[in-house]
Amino acid sequence: MSENSVTAIASPNIAFIKYWGNRDPALRLPANASLSMTLSNLQTTTTVIFDDRLEADQIEIDGSPASAKAASRVTMHLDLIRTLSGVPAFASMRSQSNFPAGAGIASSASAFAALTAAASNAAGLELDKKQLSILARRGSGSAARSIFGGFVQLFSGEVNEDGYAEQLAPAEHWHLVDLIAVVTKEHKSTGSSAGHLLAPTSPIQAPRVQDAARRLETCKDAILQKDFRTLAQIVELDSNLMHSVMMTSEPPLLYLEPESISVMKHVTRWREAGLDVCYTIDAGPNVHCICSFEDSHEVEHQLRSIDGILDIYRCSPGNGVALTANNEQAPQ
Ligand code: DP6
Repeated sequence: MSENSVTAIASPNIAFIKYWGNRDPALRLPANASLSMTLSNLQTTTTVIFDDRLEADQIEIDGSPASAKAASRVTMHLDLIRTLSGVPAFASMRSQSNFPAGAGIASSASAFAALTAAASNAAGLELDKKQLSILARRGSGSAARSIFGGFVQLFSGEVNEDGYAEQLAPAEHWHLVDLIAVVTKEHKSTGSSAGHLLAPTSPIQAPRVQDAARRLETCKDAILQKDFRTLAQIVELDSNLMHSVMMTSEPPLLYLEPESISVMKHVTRWREAGLDVCYTIDAGPNVHCICSFEDSHEVEHQLRSIDGILDIYRCSPGNGVALTANNEQAPQ
C-alpha cells in the first residue's frame, strides 16, 4: 500500500460526572456513564503513517521514543486498526502535546482521540464520529469523549458498539472556564488503568455507580439550563464520591495532596461568598476550578494567592478531534 501520512489534533476533557471502574476492562466498557467538557488550548497533535518497509511500529511521544509501557499501549491500539482495516503494515507514529504529560491533565484522552482519528484515516477506514468514539474508548475510556467538542456524554454500554459518546451541547453553548490549579508536576504512581481495576474492591463503588444516572441527569439539565449553582453541587458531589471510592479501595488510592485540599476549601468559601466556582479532581492531585467566565478572572486572581500552586492553566469549552488540512492523500 502507498503511504498516507495523516495528522489529527485532539484536546483533553474534564469529567463533570466521572467514570471510575470498568465493567469490562478488556473492552474498557465503563462501570457508569459519564459527562465531560472538552478543553480548549490544550492539544495533542499526532501523525501516523503505515509503511510496508517498517519492521516494527515506531512510536515517538513528545520528541523521544516512547517508554515500553506507552509503546505497547499504542501498538495494541494500532493492532485494532490493522485488524479493522486489513492493512498489515507497521506504522510510524509521532505525537506531541502542548502541555506536560506530568501535569495531571488527562493526556490519555487527547492522545488516544488523536491517534484513533489519524491512524484509522491513514489506514483508509472511513469512520463517523460515533465509530471513532467507540474505537478511541478501546485505547482510553475518556478518549471516547474527546472525539466531540463542547459538552459530551459517554454511555456506559452493554456491548462494544453501545459504548460511545455524543455531544450534549456545542462549545459555544456556555462559556465556562476551567482553571487548572497545578499543585505537582510529578507523574502519578498509580495510573487510571490500574486504578479502574481497584474500584470494585471499595464498598462505596456499588452505591456510587447505582446513583450515577441520577447525577448525570441533574448535571445534564444544569448544563442545558446554564444553572451554575446546581452544576456546582453535583460536580463536587461526583468528584468527592469518586475520591471516596479511591480512598476506600484495597489498596487505597490517595491522589489528593495537602495543597489540593487547601484549594477545595478555598473554592467552597469563594462560592459561599457569591462567586460561581466549583472544584473537580481526576486521578491526580491537581484541582480543576470550574467557573463562569464572568467570575473567572477573580477566581484566577484569588488562586494566585494560595501557597503551593505551581501553575494555572486556563481552558474554555473546546473542539472535538479534527484532521489537519495538509494531510497527504497519496494514491492507493
Ligand atoms: C478519573 O480514561 O484515564 O479521569 O482508560 O485507563 O485511560 P484509561 O482511563 P481514563 O479514566 C478516566 C478517569 C477519570 C474520570 C473520567 O474522566 O471520567
